[in-house]
Amino acid sequence: MKISEALIQKAKRTLEANRRGHFTLPSKHLYAAQWNWDAVFIAMGYATYNEAQAWLELESLFKAQWENGMLPHIVFHESAEQYYPNAQDWNVPVAYSHSKLPCSGITQPPVAAYGLELVLGVVGNTAEAAAHGAALYPKVMAWHKWFYEYRQYKNSGFVFITHPWESGRDNSVLWDKALRRVQITGRYHKKRKDTSQINPDHRPLNAIYDIYMSLVEEQKTLGYKATLIAERSSFKVVDMGFNAILARSNWSLLSLARRFGNKDDVRQIEGWIAAFKTGSKLFYDEKKQLYVSYDMISGSHIGHEDIGSYMLIFAGTLEPAELQNTFSRMEKLLHTFSYGMPSLHPEDPNFEAKRYWRGSSWLHINWLLMQGFYYYNKEALAQQLSQTCIRLAEKSGYYEYYDPYTAEGIGASHFSWPAAIILLLEKKVRMVLS
Ligand code: GLC
Repeated sequence: MKISEALIQKAKRTLEANRRGHFTLPSKHLYAAQWNWDAVFIAMGYATYNEAQAWLELESLFKAQWENGMLPHIVFHESAEQYYPNAQDWNVPVAYSHSKLPCSGITQPPVAAYGLELVLGVVGNTAEAAAHGAALYPKVMAWHKWFYEYRQYKNSGFVFITHPWESGRDNSVLWDKALRRVQITGRYHKKRKDTSQINPDHRPLNAIYDIYMSLVEEQKTLGYKATLIAERSSFKVVDMGFNAILARSNWSLLSLARRFGNKDDVRQIEGWIAAFKTGSKLFYDEKKQLYVSYDMISGSHIGHEDIGSYMLIFAGTLEPAELQNTFSRMEKLLHTFSYGMPSLHPEDPNFEAKRYWRGSSWLHINWLLMQGFYYYNKEALAQQLSQTCIRLAEKSGYYEYYDPYTAEGIGASHFSWPAAIILLLEKKVRMVLS
């Protein structure tokens, strides 16, 4: 399916309208700052037509990196009073970040190493690109080191998250049971700004919002100190989706380390990759024949089948035989749904096609899955997903996410990441492990 020139122009216009000089908003509606993994997808999109902006986007994000290597999930380059929680609500000690930029105190899926390798591949081998790559590489490496220093689950090569927002799949049903244990310390939902702008039926419930913010308050009380949070957080989950991205990014980091790093870096990254391969056994549910996320506090696998389990096809570390059942499940779902992989299995009682991360289809996730299909030589499925992404954008425009049955665009409109993905598809960018 050919992408129309109008759709391409609209993608560029969307990114330009959301751009604030050196960084880009996920959408000028609702999201008033730079978000970590959004910025990486946005940079990948810019790489197809505006190299300088791609580098600026990544460099602006890494400006907020903490001294200990952590890369925050939101960077408040400007005041964002219309957003909750904003910089004042997070109240992170300014000294934590190199540049003293206000930011959130948690992180997000580490897609940056993958994004950096992709941007370098798209813009070509110029001296300018090499200089940017060399400057960014040690920062990305420092972030991965931070994960393995503070967040590794028992030498498994897998890391844990301490807030649902870290997963990037904020409202997934995976967190529900673990969140019930968190002590609620306030009725924070009263300060919400999202539900006055977007249909509340599509957003997380108020009760869950109170828990999200109670967790933020808990981390604040712990002074946002990585060691203390890793020890005492009321929420610790090893999420398959997050780890799929980390694992895939480790491969990219390895190739970047060979180019810009040193032998010690290479050895260290190889160690993380090897650990992941053996550690994966801990997360395999024999009955379901599926890798599932793990609640560290209750010491149990999380039963729901959300898209995080499928995202492991993107990691590029597991053998095809280990993923066989995952492939067949995904294939079935792609027959049922015309508009992309739903974020939750439709037989789950919590499935809601239109609610945030509880069944809805997300273009950037579909794109990552597509790369996984290419890697495992499932060409037809990859093509099918690629067509799906194009049809979604043609039919509904650039939305935060979509209803996988009807293609209805939901959440904020004029959204950056679907626009970036369409630009990548137009240039036929694929980036799979060789
Ligand atoms: C929501 C999403 C998260 C995303 C952010 C900005 O919080 O769940 O993944 O990064 O919005 O788009």
